[in-house]
Amino acid sequence: MRKPLIVANWKMYNTVSEASFLVEELIGKIGDISSVEVAIAPPFTALEAVSKILSETDLTLAAQNMYWERAGAFTGEISPVMLRDLTCRFVILGHSERRQFFGDGDGEVALKVEAALAEGLIPILCVGETLGEREYRKTFEVVERQIRGALDGGMPDSGGALIIAYEPIWAIGTGKTASPEAAQEVHCFIRRLLENLLGKGPGGEVRILYGGSVKPDNVRGLMEMQDIDGALVGGASLDAESFTRIVHFK
Ligand code: PGA
Repeated sequence: MRKPLIVANWKMYNTVSEASFLVEELIGKIGDISSVEVAIAPPFTALEAVSKILSETDLTLAAQNMYWERAGAFTGEISPVMLRDLTCRFVILGHSERRQFFGDGDGEVALKVEAALAEGLIPILCVGETLGEREYRKTFEVVERQIRGALDGGMPDSGGALIIAYEPIWAIGTGKTASPEAAQEVHCFIRRLLENLLGKGPGGEVRILYGGSVKPDNVRGLMEMQDIDGALVGGASLDAESFTRIVHFK
């Protein structure tokens, strides 16, 4: 069974003190939830503080990106070893903002996925089409290319070692969400692809999250879909109240 997973992607928001305050607030509200797995992805600078606060809870720590080398002369970069050292379990890779603003293409994403898997980190691999690609009916083609590309360096050895986040770019931070049915169509396509690539058993175990303007009032409809196993939440994760309502989607 795939346990629902809700991930807070804080992006480039929250100083250490703001992050600590928010995570304490969240623990007070959802620290004991067991039916849903909850992960928090603060910016790098707040990982250590958040890690310490989460250590006594069931909430999980995630990073928003990493470099693929374990160590070396790579000024400004963060390695998978460093993320493990800070108790990160997940790492978001290939987010559309990384692809758009920081030159992360399928090749870079593949190297990062390979390095994360080798280090025992679980990649949250983000894929999704632009509005233009959707209008030209290229969604499946784009998503397939991104997933095949990202797994080029090697497959995870189990379904639990990988998470996919389908995030249509036109829905990120725009207030526009894919309808549950439209999202499910893509999630189902991704599921078949994973079953082809990893085998039916492991492909069925991979959690596929939806991301793009997930809010308290639309999360339930999305989560009712067969192949939507959770959500990657940006804007609405910065507010303890709205994130709590998302986590309590049932
Ligand atoms: P959003 O961001 O919820 O603000 O649309 C989602 C994401 O980019 O992961």
